[in-house]
Amino acid sequence: MIDSPTDSRGVAILGSTGSIGCNSLRVIESLTNTPMRVVALAAGTNVERLADQIATHLPEVVSVDTEAAAHDLRAMLFARNVDLPRIVVGEEGLCEVATHPRADCVISATVGAVGFVPTLKALELGKRVALANKETLVMAGELMTAAARKSGAELLPVDSEHNALHQCLRGERREEVRRIILTASGGPFRTKNKADMELATVAEAMRHPTWNMGAKITIDSATLMNKGLEVIEARWLFGFGPEEIDILVHPESVVHSMIEMVDGSVIAQLGVTDMRHAIQYALTYPERHTCQLPPLDLTTVSGLHFEAPDHERFPCIRLAYRALREGGTLPAAMNAANEEAVAAFLNERISLTEIPQVIESVMNDHSNQPAKDIQTILAADHESRLAARATIERIPIRVHQ
Ligand SMILES: NC(=O)c1ccc[n+]([C@@H]2O[C@H](COP(=O)([O-])OP(=O)(O)OC[C@H]3O[C@@H](n4cnc5c(N)ncnc54)[C@H](OP(=O)(O)O)[C@@H]3O)[C@@H](O)[C@H]2O)c1
Repeated sequence: MIDSPTDSRGVAILGSTGSIGCNSLRVIESLTNTPMRVVALAAGTNVERLADQIATHLPEVVSVDTEAAAHDLRAMLFARNVDLPRIVVGEEGLCEVATHPRADCVISATVGAVGFVPTLKALELGKRVALANKETLVMAGELMTAAARKSGAELLPVDSEHNALHQCLRGERREEVRRIILTASGGPFRTKNKADMELATVAEAMRHPTWNMGAKITIDSATLMNKGLEVIEARWLFGFGPEEIDILVHPESVVHSMIEMVDGSVIAQLGVTDMRHAIQYALTYPERHTCQLPPLDLTTVSGLHFEAPDHERFPCIRLAYRALREGGTLPAAMNAANEEAVAAFLNERISLTEIPQVIESVMNDHSNQPAKDIQTILAADHESRLAARATIERIPIRVHQ
């Protein structure tokens, strides 16, 4: 059990059972100089892992996605003789976790659009949000950053590239930065041709060369939509326009991102490929604390390579820049179509190369509007999911040989 000193800072985690959620708990356990107390946790349906987390951290409130999961969780905690926290369910449950009165910081680490409303509510209440759930900022960047400005909430990036940019930009004047450069590993198909990509299996697409992550972001990394989402995320976090944000493929994933100054100087952030660095930075900012991970050993890095991304093999990059330029509800539509297409690929219903085709078809048919409020954005998300499902339905089922 973790000690809970009274002067500790309260943390709530949305998506505690996922890759970022579990790493966040490991960071909190390791931060002895800055005691933190886990006051609320939200998960989907992995109640076994959630029960372990409850037994260790004793949160006051936990949320799960369904009543069935809540029932299983209660039974599991009862059998293990663990005191029951308040158990809440669904989107209301996620919102209760995100707005917990004793949470000073909310780690937003659910995957996809489900995190949008809870993350927005945390920002409206002025809480620090450590943001991993990039889809929320893609859907509603203007609304979320306006809410943060109004309440004074800090929005700190957990995504390694944006975390790197945040570090590079510290102390720099905006007008002296010419552009920001997001690095990308290039994913498992960096060196494959189009024909190979058309036949890619789920197992091949899940084999990320440098990072170990959840399923959705791993597929996004294979199509490079992850980088496209990150371009939009960078626009909202740092205020750079589409023409000031570039992507550079860097297979070693040692340079996490860079900024180029007006005098031509380039400032980069380097580190090991472990998300705990970025999570710790977002939790302890503006302070820096000793980290238990071994630091980067540059003598083990055989080289640093950089190349331009191939827009023809990875059309998702072009789609994301288009969504950013056209703005309004188009980024939410693109994000929703991508979530549906990725799910269809993971279910072996469509091929990897059909993912951008589904997204582009939904974007072309989308009736774009100003993203002025939650309802407009949620409606665009909903309609685009329906449109994406209909598009997927029309794709002939492949016969596996
Ligand atoms: N993993 C990384 O290294 C990494 C790096 C940068 C950014 N990110 C971003 O961080 C976010 C999380 O990524 P991840 O890799 O940690 O994903 P993940 O391993 O798939 O975890 C997703 C989390 O969200 C929960 N969840 C899913 N659907 C839910 C729902 N309907 N209601 C409530 N909770 C739900 C899952 O709960 P259950 O498992 O209990 O169902 C799980 O806790 C994504 O937006 C991703 O793009 C991740």
